[in-house]
Amino acid sequence: MPTPAGYSRTQIRLHWNVAALIIFQLIFGEEIGSAFDAMLESGVASYDLAAITHILAGVGVLLFAVWRLALRFGRGVPAAPTGESAVQALLAKATHGILYVLMLAVPAVGLFAWFGGSEEAGDLHSLAKPAFIILVALHVLGALYHQFILKDGLLLRMKRAAD
Ligand code: HEM
Ligand code: HEM
Repeated sequence: MPTPAGYSRTQIRLHWNVAALIIFQLIFGEEIGSAFDAMLESGVASYDLAAITHILAGVGVLLFAVWRLALRFGRGVPAAPTGESAVQALLAKATHGILYVLMLAVPAVGLFAWFGGSEEAGDLHSLAKPAFIILVALHVLGALYHQFILKDGLLLRMKRAAD
């Protein structure tokens, strides 16, 4: 995998767009719940605004995550920041890895629940909320630790493009 000097403009835009979409889903996610319950009861899907925006935003997260992974392996990402202990570096790597798994698995299970009419998949999909909240909190804490304790300007890596 190549090691460029920094993230590209596209990688940075994708990072922040996906972050915004996920935050939107976490705030408004419950709204699709009533349309889902009604569908399970009647067997007919009703596409109200809440359902349509939830599905579109979720599919957006999935497609953007695939695009990001293609860029990670094709173009590469910058080397891990220096100044971290081995444990911190491992924690950062694990957090990024699990966030990628969630960005792929959560929408996939959501699609299966909705289009397959599966209540079990819906229950599993509902775990998205605590899972994302924990992982994103860890991720943001890591970014703040770099910003205010290590003072290595890590946030700039997700702001200033290197292409
Ligand atoms: C739902 C929200 C978020 C997700 C899913 C997410 C995911 C990720 C992932 C997977 C990476 C690894 C690089 C890559 O593949 O693009 C990354 C990097 C980064 N994220 Fe986030 N992020 C989120 C929100 C945030 C927020 C709110 C901040 C600001 C505090 C932030 C700051 C950063 C920084 C500074 C990096 C670069 C780290 C490095 O280069 O080692 N992220 N993010
Ligand atoms: C990363 C993308 C997504 C996130 C973060 C997300 C998040 C959420 C959240 C927070 C809830 C509310 C759970 C609760 O009430 O506790 C929810 C419910 C739901 N979502 Fe998603 N979602 C995503 C993608 C999708 C997609 C693509 C679909 C496809 C149709 C979908 C279908 C559903 C359904 C059917 C429910 C209701 C589940 C139930 O009430 O049992 N989601 N989602």
